[in-house]
Amino acid sequence: LPDAQVIVVSNREPYIHNREGDDIQLVVPASGLVSALEPITRACAGTWIAYGGGSADRLVVDKNDRIEVPPDNPSYTLRRVWLSEEEQQGYYLGFANEGLWPLCHIAFTRPIFRASDWEAYEAVNRKFADTVVAEARNERPIVLVQDYHFALLPRMIRERLPEAIIITFWHIPWPNSEVFSICPWREKILEGLLGSSIVGFHTQFHCNNFIDSVDRFLESRIEREDSAISYGGQISLVHAYPISIEWPPAQLGKLPDVAQCRRKVRETFGLGENVRLCVGVERLDYTKGILDRFNALDELLTLHPEWIGKVAFLQIAAPSRGTLPAYQQLYEECMRHAEDLNRRYGREGYTPVLMITEHHSQQQVYEIYRAADVCMVTSLHDGMNLVAKEFVAAREDEQGVLLLSMFAGASKELLDALIVNPYDAAMMGDALLQALTMSEEEQSQRMRRMREIVRDNNVYRWAGSMLLDAARLRKRDAVDR
Ligand code: G6P
Repeated sequence: LPDAQVIVVSNREPYIHNREGDDIQLVVPASGLVSALEPITRACAGTWIAYGGGSADRLVVDKNDRIEVPPDNPSYTLRRVWLSEEEQQGYYLGFANEGLWPLCHIAFTRPIFRASDWEAYEAVNRKFADTVVAEARNERPIVLVQDYHFALLPRMIRERLPEAIIITFWHIPWPNSEVFSICPWREKILEGLLGSSIVGFHTQFHCNNFIDSVDRFLESRIEREDSAISYGGQISLVHAYPISIEWPPAQLGKLPDVAQCRRKVRETFGLGENVRLCVGVERLDYTKGILDRFNALDELLTLHPEWIGKVAFLQIAAPSRGTLPAYQQLYEECMRHAEDLNRRYGREGYTPVLMITEHHSQQQVYEIYRAADVCMVTSLHDGMNLVAKEFVAAREDEQGVLLLSMFAGASKELLDALIVNPYDAAMMGDALLQALTMSEEEQSQRMRRMREIVRDNNVYRWAGSMLLDAARLRKRDAVDR
């Protein structure tokens, strides 16, 4: 697809400008989607359309709401879209994060569907469709639509740019058709997504769930053999593309070596020299299994009290969607649970659980990965989970153990992690003990194999295979015409 214009659309922007007194501070948000798409957009010098949510975002754009980024080495255009309080409330907090997010993650949080949220969701999707059309330089751009915020966008773009290549990637799981059926606007969502040339998920399992949902709720033709759906005269491929990270990650070049990171992180968090360090790094979200990690530590310290004083758990939880009740409740439960463990097992100079609910830069996060003995990724359900891959990428020393949930897409690739069921506290406690007592040799054998997998299946491969499939589709269209 030489010379084609690439337009990425996501809710979250890759760079947020915030006011800090008289200064403007630049923040890279905690979002797996952003860390994966950023290197790709840089590589194709594309246009990224996203919601401008920072308090200083309006101050730095030109008259067309555009800014060239990254700030230190401008290589693509960020086009910001402004949303009112009501639009954010209904579209982002409401329909996307109280409706679709819990619907798609089997985390037993009841989805909430309000008609007013749905209306806002539709209106904001329309606003982004207008922006895509305004940014398109010709009739045939390649539009990369990202995630559950934009289920209606592909069809809206298709109606106005019939020849565009629209690749939609759903970064979160797709539930089975029975679960999906509870969404009052299920047909509209499926029709919207089927405006895409390609609908991508992380795993074949989620593709099958999507195809089953279409089969059940829309009059369509399904070609199971090629994983294609024909609906209203449009063919959409439904394929699995496991997302990944840049290899090697850009951060690595700026990092101190592993020994220095160990020292620095231990100093920052007041950890003793010889304490073994387990870490968790994510947004504070009820799908991530943070409380289940605390239970695992509890299990370990109860059954193996010899570890009291010798192991600490550092949870970095970036605040996220904090005005929603489900997130406030989780915050309170996490704080309570951490305090309880600290009261029961802590002593002078030893705090077993450190729960830090602050945003950290990518650089700080990578230093923490390097300082860790064990990284716990225990999501209750996750499309892929890039923390698992980032941890592996950070460990050039081939040391450190990854504990990985069997319900994260990453567990299908990183078979050398210790794979756990986060709902099984006994299994998690055993795995934690196994991780803490694993020989250096076994650590390095496992880590080496995982590093090869992440290196070979990096994010360029993810984007490359979607674009290759898109190119094949375009060729086929040309032959059919
Ligand atoms: C998940 C979603 C992304 C989202 C990210 C951060 O990874 O799949 O679309 O950007 O969480 O959440 P936020 O609501 O802060 O954008």
